[in-house]
Amino acid sequence: AAVGASGGTDETVAVGGPAAAGEPAPPWAMLAELTHGCPLHCPYCSNPVGLIPRSRELATADWVRVMREAAALGVVHAHLSGGEPLLRADLTEITAAAARAGIYTQLVTSGVGLDRARLAELVEAGLHSVQLSVQDATAAASDLIAGTRSFAAKEKAAELVRETGLPLGLNVVLHRRNLDSVDGIVELALKWGAERVELANTQFYGWALRNRRALLPTRDQLARAKESVERWRERLEGVELIWVVPDYFDGVPKPCMGGWGAISLTVGPDGSVLPCPAAYDLPLEFPNVRDHSLAWIWERSQAFDAYRGTAWMSEPCMSCSRRDVDFGGCRCQAYALTGDARRTDPACGLAPDHHLITELVESAGEGTLVYRRPERPARSPAPSRVGS
Ligand code: SF4
Ligand code: FES
Repeated sequence: AAVGASGGTDETVAVGGPAAAGEPAPPWAMLAELTHGCPLHCPYCSNPVGLIPRSRELATADWVRVMREAAALGVVHAHLSGGEPLLRADLTEITAAAARAGIYTQLVTSGVGLDRARLAELVEAGLHSVQLSVQDATAAASDLIAGTRSFAAKEKAAELVRETGLPLGLNVVLHRRNLDSVDGIVELALKWGAERVELANTQFYGWALRNRRALLPTRDQLARAKESVERWRERLEGVELIWVVPDYFDGVPKPCMGGWGAISLTVGPDGSVLPCPAAYDLPLEFPNVRDHSLAWIWERSQAFDAYRGTAWMSEPCMSCSRRDVDFGGCRCQAYALTGDARRTDPACGLAPDHHLITELVESAGEGTLVYRRPERPARSPAPSRVGS
């Protein structure tokens, strides 16, 4: 999983409709992490290192209710994501529930497991669009990052989606190992018929945080890739090219998630509800759809209120002119780097902890990649040999 939902983007998103005094404005987007299971092993994955096991996943009826409640709350757009959502045998039912509730659905997939019959079912259920991930411009390079042979399945999936006429987006997470291939990646996207190409520089959460040293690019790589993107933008017609800005390099923090509890929510595979998909590790108690309605969670829960608005801020954010623009940056990043989610995001050049970021950028480049895999259950101790 590596939706732009981890927050970084070069787009500004409109905030939801008017709210009653004292009530937060409603969310308009929901990331439904249907499962953390995935056939790929990408080291840049933003899923938590402690992946939620399949045995704790919500049942179909829970997701059907979540879709109804989300629509009633104001959600108009759901990313059906994971992990790999195609691993859920009930994906069609969940998609249909969202569509019935009037929610626009986007399938966020690796493409592995998508065949003509499955896609036809999903289209029939009301699926609106597909975002397909690919890891690099060539089969060998893409499979190397995915940690498994998957490029051919992706190519086939793109072809099938184009046949249906659904809008196709391609998502490519960029890092040290593929930033020099941006031209080839855009050419691939055009060949596969994508209408939207998201070039998303890695956001360092979950597995990506574990692999940060090896994934962080050089400044030169970034500058060259950005120039390529600008050249493509001048030439392309009818294809949207998104460059999700890297986080550690220009001293400007991202307006993460458009603000905490401001425009979107994430429902995890086990029903926990978070203001962002990287928040699993924060020291907050996240409410669960098994215990509460989404409306209660959005409007009343402590977790969603914790960093809403600006009242929680300390200096330098509190008196900064950009506090309503970037909301103090990213809470997950502040916590991961400083141990205190209330501090200014160290990505900000004004942050007292900004040196942490500059040191990381300078020391990047070493280390091998740790591929994403579910934690093995702890082995029971070996039985002691009688008489030994
Ligand atoms: Fe944003 Fe805070 Fe930095 Fe100001 S000090 S730019 S509000 S993160
Ligand atoms: Fe930025 Fe969680 S990823 S708030």
